[in-house]
Amino acid sequence: MFADKDIAKFNNIETPFYYYDTDLLQKTLEACASAAKPYGFHIHYALKANFNPVILDQIKTIGFGADCVSAGEVRRAVEVGFENKKIVFAGVGKSDKEINEALDLDIFCFNVESIQELEVLNELATAKRKTAQIAIRINPNVDAHTHHNITTGLDENKFGINSWDLPACAEVLKASTNLAFLGIHFHIGSQITNLDVYKNLCVRVNEFCNWFEDKGFTVAVLNVGGGLGIDYHHPDHQIPDFKAYFKIFNDFLEIKANQEVHFELGRALVGQSAALITRALYIKNGKKKNFVVLDAGMTELMRPALYQAYHKIENLTRGHGNDLRYDIVGPICESTDCFGKEVEQPESFRGDVFAIRSAGAYGEVMASKYNLRDEIRSVYSSEI
Ligand code: LLP
Repeated sequence: MFADKDIAKFNNIETPFYYYDTDLLQKTLEACASAAKPYGFHIHYALKANFNPVILDQIKTIGFGADCVSAGEVRRAVEVGFENKKIVFAGVGKSDKEINEALDLDIFCFNVESIQELEVLNELATAKRKTAQIAIRINPNVDAHTHHNITTGLDENKFGINSWDLPACAEVLKASTNLAFLGIHFHIGSQITNLDVYKNLCVRVNEFCNWFEDKGFTVAVLNVGGGLGIDYHHPDHQIPDFKAYFKIFNDFLEIKANQEVHFELGRALVGQSAALITRALYIKNGKKKNFVVLDAGMTELMRPALYQAYHKIENLTRGHGNDLRYDIVGPICESTDCFGKEVEQPESFRGDVFAIRSAGAYGEVMASKYNLRDEIRSVYSSEI
């Protein structure tokens, strides 16, 4: 990802910052779009992975819709120019204010996560004399075999409507005057690398689709969510295998005539396109441990502290090498503020520039103000 000329330019830019490789992003988006095209699959990009307007503009231009989980994200999608009729709004806890705002914007679909939410949405839509298009988010109880903090499709998770509540859900739907049933929605987790998981999901989607059709509903949309993982250990093998991913859904879903299949990919589209660029402030060589103290920390990239997530760390100034082992830490007053323990690196010095790779998804968007840190900046390959 990094040519020598990039590294030379990084030396002149104040750290820390997110560096976006917009060419790689473009290639990834095109690979995804062209893999989905033969099947006529629809993609709504999950804004939660990265809602940086420059990145969103590129994603919108490729023709994808937007998957949002707050009124703020819906607003951002509209501002950036996503078509309102290509915006879906999911989330287990949409407030009345958020629902009203999305109703006013005439978005494509609300992915509804509880029976009570159906009732509230019907009431609010009735008050506005509008009809809200909805999909029922079902919790299919399929194990995503990923980190437990980012698993969402098991009975024990808070997301979606459980199968045993579907008969009551169907009754409420039938009685709702201002809701239009579009289809069913699923999302079983994130950073899924075992594609067999999706075969199991397809089997469940077919069962639920038949259940709704048997009850007299027309299921026009099957929304299978997102979750496709990326290879954090090999950030230079950058583009996920979208062809293999979509083929599974084509092979295992029983897609009916006129039925649309929708996806909500986030990480797989943006994850490899950014690195957090940071500088070594201090080197502390102890008896038991060597530390590199960086000028970026958990406030800029929270994933390692929150999920013990692995991100590859490279000393760009010194190049490859495994002379020493370091704990690579940030400046925040928390012991979990650590990007990696006992990481093999070339001997490192104050001022060395480091890249923390695969930081395009759930990086910049999860940055926090903790310790009253400066807001993290972004730099784009197209501008340096
Ligand atoms: N659709 C729904 C309903 C979701 O909840 C999510 C992610 C997505 C789509 C997009 O999933 P993706 O394709 O990006 O895996 N902060 C965590 C990830 C949380 C994912 C939340 N939901 C992390 O840093 O790993």
